[in-house]
Amino acid sequence: MSIERFLTGITPSGTPHLGNYVGSIRPSVAASLRSGVQSFYFLADYHALIKIDDPARIQRSTLEIAASWLACGLDPERVVFYRQSDIPEIPELTWFLSCVLGKGVLNRAHAYKAAVDKNTAAGLDTDADVNVGLFMYPVLMGADILMFNAHHVPVGRDQVQHIEMARDMANSFNHRYGQHFTMPEAAIEDNVATLPGLDGRKMSKSYDNTIPLFAPRAQLQKLIGGIVTDSKAPGEAKSVEGSALFQIYQAFASAQETDALRQAYANGIAWKDAKQLVFDRIDQELAPMRAAYEALINNPGKIEAIFQAGAIKARAIATPFMAELRHAVGLRDLRSKDTVSIKMAKSALPVFKQYRESDGQFYFKLQSAEGRLLLQSGGFASPKVAGQAIAALQTQGADALADLVDSVKLAEGAQTAELHAAMQALREAKVASKAS
Ligand code: TRP
Repeated sequence: MSIERFLTGITPSGTPHLGNYVGSIRPSVAASLRSGVQSFYFLADYHALIKIDDPARIQRSTLEIAASWLACGLDPERVVFYRQSDIPEIPELTWFLSCVLGKGVLNRAHAYKAAVDKNTAAGLDTDADVNVGLFMYPVLMGADILMFNAHHVPVGRDQVQHIEMARDMANSFNHRYGQHFTMPEAAIEDNVATLPGLDGRKMSKSYDNTIPLFAPRAQLQKLIGGIVTDSKAPGEAKSVEGSALFQIYQAFASAQETDALRQAYANGIAWKDAKQLVFDRIDQELAPMRAAYEALINNPGKIEAIFQAGAIKARAIATPFMAELRHAVGLRDLRSKDTVSIKMAKSALPVFKQYRESDGQFYFKLQSAEGRLLLQSGGFASPKVAGQAIAALQTQGADALADLVDSVKLAEGAQTAELHAAMQALREAKVASKAS
């Protein structure tokens, strides 16, 4: 069995904060140290161009994020760590994928739809201020993922749709040109803590409530001092419920330490003392990394060299793979006598695909041989029940739908006739494979 590949992209659009550390950097670095996996980490700087037109900010953010990941223990010898814009095969693949993906799929992408809805609500032209980059964002992301045939892409829920689209592109391409791409899966990080920020809302650049991961020690102390609390006086019992300070502490402290602070809250610890405790604990974890960070930030040439070396590793995979894909689509040496692709398309079959969603339920869908969605199930409690529904469809064909009205629906735009034809093709293929 081939080694499992994980791929993570980080858009360089700002300065890493404690929320990024707890939610992404720390768990990802830990995961990269597991054996039996190959990890790809990259700075998605082409993505950054979609929303940032300040060149200095992109450069600075790339430096800061790279220095942060390295300071937090990412080992560039062990993983493939690179900058997206150093891999020219990625934009090339983006074009290939654009040519197999329906435009309608992109119309439905969350980020684009949100922009359109906002414009519509404001009475503006639907596409006002929307650049084509935003529209194409999912295709570029698909290319990031498919370029390295990643199996798992750890992402937040907001990115799941993008992974679905990457699968869609992979399917359509494979269908037309033969089996080239692995189907990526979203690895949804559900138990990852989201950290509250200074004002108690989720720590996020857009709320301007962040604590920079590697703020100098004095600034860190000052910022922690500014985390919102209620106005309970020293000696008054305090509630851990809804306490941003407590939640931030919890993300750094052991279970025993957390219990001790919970007790101290009950005993009426003064906010000032609680803040000192939280600062000390966080600083204890960050101080050694902060030193490494500062050394790296002051030596951009070192990070540049790490990126160059990473690009060589990444392109050792991307360049030959892209050559294979170019050949597959027909961008070929004129002397080549290969005539494969068309026959392959003819023998393709509809497929049932089972998957699990972030809600923990089990789903399936039926795709036509051309990669169009025909049936979409709702959530099933177990893979077994989902499997039984599929089995019923396989044996009884579309007639089984009558019994499954509540859980399986014909996809929007799909024709019943197309469904019948697909089920028929599946049954015939089964008969043929039994006979042979
Ligand atoms: N879209 C991701 C984000 O905003 C960044 C990203 C770009 C990415 N390409 C990717 C993540 C490929 C995973 C895989 O966070």
